[in-house]
Amino acid sequence: MILKINPIKPELDKIRMAANAIREGKLAVFPTETVYGLGANALDDEACKRIFLTKGRPQDNPLIVHVSSIEMAEKLAEIPKEYLQKIRQAWPSPITFIVKKKNILPNSVTAGLETVALRMPAHPIALELIKEAGLPIAAPSANLSGKPSPTEASSVIEDFGDRIDIIIDGGPTFFGLESTVIDLETFTIARPGPFTIGEITKIFGKIPKIFKQTKEIAKPMSPGMKYRHYAPSKPLFLFSGDNESFVNIANNLGKSFCFIASNEICGRIYNEKAVKIRLGSSKNLYEIAKNLFSSLRAIDKFEPNFAICESFEEKGIGLAIMNRLHKACGGAIFADENRLKKFITAIK
Ligand code: TXA
Ligand code: MG
Repeated sequence: MILKINPIKPELDKIRMAANAIREGKLAVFPTETVYGLGANALDDEACKRIFLTKGRPQDNPLIVHVSSIEMAEKLAEIPKEYLQKIRQAWPSPITFIVKKKNILPNSVTAGLETVALRMPAHPIALELIKEAGLPIAAPSANLSGKPSPTEASSVIEDFGDRIDIIIDGGPTFFGLESTVIDLETFTIARPGPFTIGEITKIFGKIPKIFKQTKEIAKPMSPGMKYRHYAPSKPLFLFSGDNESFVNIANNLGKSFCFIASNEICGRIYNEKAVKIRLGSSKNLYEIAKNLFSSLRAIDKFEPNFAICESFEEKGIGLAIMNRLHKACGGAIFADENRLKKFITAIK
């Protein structure tokens, strides 16, 4: 069932329907300020196992548990005393804290880890849903495993059809990228997101470390890091060189392609073989972030069999944008015009 709910002033009767479903052990998709989540009662082992089955998610990749109050969070995990006030200040917002879990949480949620990822979403529908259910809600992004996260209800329907009990359609999400995940024990960012390093530093009074995955580190910090993500089914090339070379390549390609770039760069492309997918103004990285996942999904809907995408400055939310793009292109990053051309020529 699809429930259309006002994202600013959620209708309580509809929220109650979804909350009842969650309490009965069913799955409900709901919008958050980041992306749509596929939710279930976090205290119900069976319901959480169904999240994994529905998404096709590897069982060793734990879920984020969404709460509506600090008190709810404290029932689920040991929140370090030194951070309690800071977390109160930071929430609700797109930041997820990894802390030591309590036994009340079933193993399926944390994939057997001793820690749990907790977050209080800054979205009226998500917050009301958790409050009405009176339960913490475990929710990964509501996409089939490996696909870009959904930023609108239509993307959820694209992936799951009618396989989910309830889908709340609350319009487009606000940020478009998943929450920042930070491990409080080591004060290290496992996944950059809309809550920026600058904002973390301001609230916590110290600069977080950033986990950089290298081939030498066998064990990823977040289990989710080792899986391919956000990937369209067609090849995606990320160009990290200067704008002039990028425009040059695009205007001189002899075969049709999808071109994902800022409005500024798209405006300079006159090659008729280019299907332009506009991300928004490069002067506003929040706009780029918001449009990123739907643009990645669009590649598979257009005719051309490959896409090239612009790079952005890894500053503020730009760090999260580039993190997702690196994963989406599976390492196909080119700074050099000629090398990229050589790869493109090889595509059938
Ligand atoms: O914005 C978001 O965070 C969205 C919305 C729905 O809240 N949720 C989301 O969930 O992105 P998901 O499951 O797609 O990503 C959760 C990430 C995964 O990379 C997972 O490995 C990591 O958080 N994670 C969860 N629990 C963890 C833990 N105990 N230790 C380390 N990483 C953990
Ligand atoms: Mg996800």
